[in-house]
Amino acid sequence: MRVTVVGLGYVGLVTATCLARLGHDVVGLESDSSKLATLDAGDIPYFEPGLANELATQRASGRLRFTGYEGSALQAPEAILICVGTPSDATGHADLQFVLDVADLIAMTVINDPVILLRSTVPIGTTRRVESRLNEARSSKGRPPVPVFANPEFLRTGRAIEDFLRPTRIVIGQTKLADSAALSILDRLYASLDAPLILTDAESAELVKNASNAFLAMRVSFVNELAALCDASGANVDDVVAGMADDPRIGGQFMRPGIGYGGSCLPKDVRSLIATAGDYGLEMRIASAVDQVNRAQVPHVLGLLEAGLGRSLKGGRIAILGLAFKPDTDDTRESPALLLVDELRNRGVDVVACDPEAAKRVRATRPWLEVVDAPMRAVTSADAVVLATEWPSYVALDMEAVAGAMRGRLIVDGRNALDRQAVADAGLTYVGIGRPTGD
Ligand SMILES: NC(=O)c1ccc[n+]([C@@H]2O[C@H](COP(=O)([O-])OP(=O)(O)OC[C@H]3O[C@@H](n4cnc5c(N)ncnc54)[C@H](O)[C@@H]3O)[C@@H](O)[C@H]2O)c1
Repeated sequence: MRVTVVGLGYVGLVTATCLARLGHDVVGLESDSSKLATLDAGDIPYFEPGLANELATQRASGRLRFTGYEGSALQAPEAILICVGTPSDATGHADLQFVLDVADLIAMTVINDPVILLRSTVPIGTTRRVESRLNEARSSKGRPPVPVFANPEFLRTGRAIEDFLRPTRIVIGQTKLADSAALSILDRLYASLDAPLILTDAESAELVKNASNAFLAMRVSFVNELAALCDASGANVDDVVAGMADDPRIGGQFMRPGIGYGGSCLPKDVRSLIATAGDYGLEMRIASAVDQVNRAQVPHVLGLLEAGLGRSLKGGRIAILGLAFKPDTDDTRESPALLLVDELRNRGVDVVACDPEAAKRVRATRPWLEVVDAPMRAVTSADAVVLATEWPSYVALDMEAVAGAMRGRLIVDGRNALDRQAVADAGLTYVGIGRPTGD
């Protein structure tokens, strides 16, 4: 099937590559010429495990091409997948400008009648809004209306290819324009994916995505509050979570305390849910609390640093291990590690940081920050070290060597990922989140 994927970001590039792997003839359309130049040079603009190889394979097969607007990507696809960004605006709503721009572009350039799939995460009502806008413009050109489907993407960066090829579910939200011919195109598009299909109305499909991310964020904030109670009471959050996770109704996913959730999805989707509910005169009290608890995590870590050092942070040297919002990605959007870096800088701290994949990105946006390549260089002469992203190579650091290189003794485990005994055995002071020493 001829498919166009619009927007080659973290989601779109994986989507285009994986659809080619499924046997479709795919054109990826991107407005950012520097991303296209990177792709043309045979590189990829992001770090995503397995993507470089898969992309090279699919390009070599001839089923995957990339183009900008000067190309003919939108001329006659049977399906168009919109994968552009929907960042938060100042009010917490999802900014739909990129999505609406694509709708205008499709109306202007497409010369056939494809089905449109909105893969971007959008608030309730967006699919219908895009459909009306697009079809109004099409009708002025004498073209028949085309259906737009809400088809949210659930992939996780770091496991994006696997998630795309083995989705937990395919959610499709339709409007009244969807007919059996349009649905049969969707059938063909996803024919080789083995996943339960949830066919619903567009509004419900939109909400599935927003609600799923807000629910995951809720688990993180809940466990972070529990961790604070553990710190205050002497209970150990690891044991509390282990005891809860064995209950199949609860499970252990998204239950690790730490410096907070980040990334391009959870924070913005929680805010979007709150803002959308506000448009309907409703208050999302739980989602608001989730957001509030999350915002308190970085200040909590600053407090741990101050308490551990026993003095103001000003003038100290602190090493931050990890800058991406989680391991296996170079995505630093709303990364709590960067919030921490910025806050430490504001307090006059000499900050040094490292990250195996995100270093380049951070050097470009924070030229004032000392970003070194190796974690052992970062910890050298540091008064305190914070593990901010649990990259396996950082978790496995030799604590004896770390102790030998540091000036101070304090290790703050912002992801509860380190072996606290190994830290203590090296003569260092371990401080985790909700893991009191028991002294
Ligand atoms: N990142 C994730 O893990 C993830 C997972 C599931 C869903 N989502 C959702 O998917 C959407 C995309 O997320 P992302 O992380 O890939 O965003 P992104 O910002 O990495 O990528 C968006 C891309 O679209 C391009 N673009 C913008 N306007 C365009 C236009 N008019 N024509 C062509 N290209 C255009 C941008 O240049 C950029 O390359 C968002 O709504 C997000 O919430 C993201």
